[in-house]
Amino acid sequence: MIIRKATVDDAAEIMDLHTNSVLRLCRGDYTPEQLQGWVNASSLEKYKLRLEKHRSYVAELDEVMIGYVHWNPETSELCSSFVHPDYARQGVGTRLMDIAEKDALSMGRNEMWLMASLTAVPFYFAMGWKSVGQTTRGSM
Ligand SMILES: CC(C)(COP(=O)(O)OP(=O)(O)OC[C@H]1O[C@@H](n2cnc3c(N)ncnc32)[C@H](O)[C@@H]1OP(=O)(O)O)[C@@H](O)C(=O)NCCC(=O)NCCS
Repeated sequence: MIIRKATVDDAAEIMDLHTNSVLRLCRGDYTPEQLQGWVNASSLEKYKLRLEKHRSYVAELDEVMIGYVHWNPETSELCSSFVHPDYARQGVGTRLMDIAEKDALSMGRNEMWLMASLTAVPFYFAMGWKSVGQTTRGSM
């Protein structure tokens, strides 16, 4: 597996990966309507904008994208991380999180925050993140 910086040209592949990851990995925690609303909230334009403004990394195996993470240097938000369902629980998320955290540290960010899906809560706890509360966003 290699991890590299993502570019705007990756937007369509990242969006496909996100859709696959959410629809398959999160189906135990949300209704089909909630999942569809989640993936529909994304668009190619939004991905391109994020790729221009955020610090983004992709994981690839044999030139196939299997994971993605991005964080916002303006707000120090770890905006999202997701892994291809066929490669879940194989350490890909851990590697991506490590890269994002080191990147943030190298830019002087000693603290970051995120909003986790229910599905990702055990993962973020395993990565050492602390919960400061629970919230509802949209129907989720
Ligand atoms: C959350 C996500 C990014 C984790 O990526 P991953 O590559 O599967 O995670 P890792 O293999 O690096 O897991 C590291 C540790 O986190 C914990 N963990 C990860 N997924 C878990 C799960 N489903 N249940 C319980 N613990 C979990 C475990 O402690 C794991 O270590 P172990 O496998 O040795 O037990 C991935 O499951 C995903 O893409 N989920 C769907 C999209 C999503 O909700 N993203 C977050 C949006 S905020």
